[in-house]
Amino acid sequence: MDVKPAASQPDWSLPPPHRRHVFLCTGPRCVRRGALSLWKVLRRRLVEHDLVETPGGILLTRNGCQFPCNRGPLLTVYPDRCWYGVQDPQQVLRVVDEHLLHGRPVAALRLPLPEDET
Ligand code: FES
Repeated sequence: MDVKPAASQPDWSLPPPHRRHVFLCTGPRCVRRGALSLWKVLRRRLVEHDLVETPGGILLTRNGCQFPCNRGPLLTVYPDRCWYGVQDPQQVLRVVDEHLLHGRPVAALRLPLPEDET
């Protein structure tokens, strides 16, 4: 098979500057639960605070299924290892304002991790 060269740009050689990496699941079940509209809310709020791809800010990534679909849409924050289930725009804004702006994870929205169960 003949593979054509991919487009490239100098900016595509390194990860953008960021402090935290935030993933919003846009897998099929999270999309059915409203993930695409929550993505817009999330991105807009981060842009308002000039947090997108800045040295102290956020690298934002949409991803496929993260597995706990029943709790989705799933929003995860690394390196903090916080997994959230966000059901509406208010919950997304709460994660941005409390966790991403002020470094205080939102306990009420966090999913338990496997090690929490032991
Ligand atoms: S589709 Fe989002 S966690 Fe499975």
